[in-house]
Amino acid sequence: MSTTGVSAKVTLGEKTAEFPLLTGTLGQDVLDIRRIAADLDVFTFDPGYGETAACESKITFIDGEKGVLLHRGYPIEQLAERATFPEVAYLLLYGELPDKAKSAEFEQVIKSHTLLHEQIRNFFNGFRRDAHPMAIMCGTVGGLSAFYHDGIDISNEASRELSALRLIAKIPTIAAWAYKYTVGEPFVYPRNDLTYAENFLSMMFAKPSEPYVVNPVLARAMDRILILHADHEQNASTSTVRLAGSTGANPFACIAAGIAALWGPAHGGANEAVLKMLAEIGHRDNIPAFIEKVKDKNSGVRLMGFGHRVYKNFDPRAKIMQATCHEVLNELGIKDDPLLDLAVELERIAVEDEYFVKRKLYPNVDFYSGIILKAMGIPTSMFTVLFAVARTTGWISQWKEMIEEPGQRIGRPRQLYTGSPRRDIPASL
Ligand code: SDX
Repeated sequence: MSTTGVSAKVTLGEKTAEFPLLTGTLGQDVLDIRRIAADLDVFTFDPGYGETAACESKITFIDGEKGVLLHRGYPIEQLAERATFPEVAYLLLYGELPDKAKSAEFEQVIKSHTLLHEQIRNFFNGFRRDAHPMAIMCGTVGGLSAFYHDGIDISNEASRELSALRLIAKIPTIAAWAYKYTVGEPFVYPRNDLTYAENFLSMMFAKPSEPYVVNPVLARAMDRILILHADHEQNASTSTVRLAGSTGANPFACIAAGIAALWGPAHGGANEAVLKMLAEIGHRDNIPAFIEKVKDKNSGVRLMGFGHRVYKNFDPRAKIMQATCHEVLNELGIKDDPLLDLAVELERIAVEDEYFVKRKLYPNVDFYSGIILKAMGIPTSMFTVLFAVARTTGWISQWKEMIEEPGQRIGRPRQLYTGSPRRDIPASL
């Protein structure tokens, strides 16, 4: 971050103050208003922080107008095509893509942490079999600090790194076991002879009673889906992780907070909501009526998988996801998948409809991901869990960056109070 020599002068009544314009590598410059309360005795007002840079970061850059997504400077299109998820995880965590030797070493370290403490198996038994897997994720990840005490001293770099590696390694095991628990099948242990994506598919679909061979096309698709969901600047769940982390809470508790925030249908829960929406529409003949319902504000119905707070032309991840969707369906020999046909027709109609064009609403990362995951045999209730598996890498990288930032302080937004003025309790009460 550097100063531009430019500043904004604000005059409020008798008071005048100047706020310097700071600039970064790419994207919007920022007005440094850290002294605004001291100089002008006012707060800024930005509900939802849509126009607020809450931090400085070097990890991910998004240009919403141009549909650009960079991780440590590398375009998502190149990473999705040429990197593996562990290599992207290494990039997010350490800032550079690993060479072959570092990549092999990192994957080996991750593999050495894929097992859970055996007693953690008991966590699952405390849930009803019909519990939503995201509830199991929140509870189990939040409880990890009770087992991994040597990873919660956040002042110690080795401890921070150990917790980061443990979380990246263990989150697929917890996710797959959450699924197995809800379907009443035995847990499948991690296999260190498999890649990260292959191992997740194995823990999800293998059975102790028969051999399991991972389909390489599905494994590659899973690896790419994990890459596309790995990190995304200061979205709601990442901001939750940063805010929780700013209090000094242990990294496992912070990631559990991120999982809870991601669960909402406006955020990571959208991929599950897209499938429910497509099922509700049922047939392409019903699309026009559904679109009319979406346009009716009183209906409270939104086109799930459409729109984005930042992307206002297209979500680059959605384009890659759509291509992956066709690859997976072809590999599985699924011709004319009714859901995909419906989604493609819905997108065609929506992107030509003035209502959506005017509001810059286009498919986001969640619009096609659910169709791929469903075709891969992953139940709808596991879609957001998969999102959390991938985003754990982004969350913990952002958490580590924040903790290691010099002068890091507890986050504490203010408010505009519009409640009752001071009053005394009536004597009659
Ligand atoms: C993710 O932040 C991230 O980076 C998130 C994410 C990540 O990787 O972390 O990219 C992942 O969360 C993707 C988004 C998944 N959510 C959905 O698909 C749910 C459906 N989309 C929306 O609810 C909505 O688009 C949001 C939440 C994504 C964005 O909401 P905004 O920016 O607050 O938009 P808004 O609510 O201010 O809407 C602006 C207008 C409104 O209409 P008007 O009041 O101007 O008439 O657009 C309308 C909204 O009603 N609108 C929609 C709509 N999204 C916005 N109308 C119908 N369908 C939609 N999906």
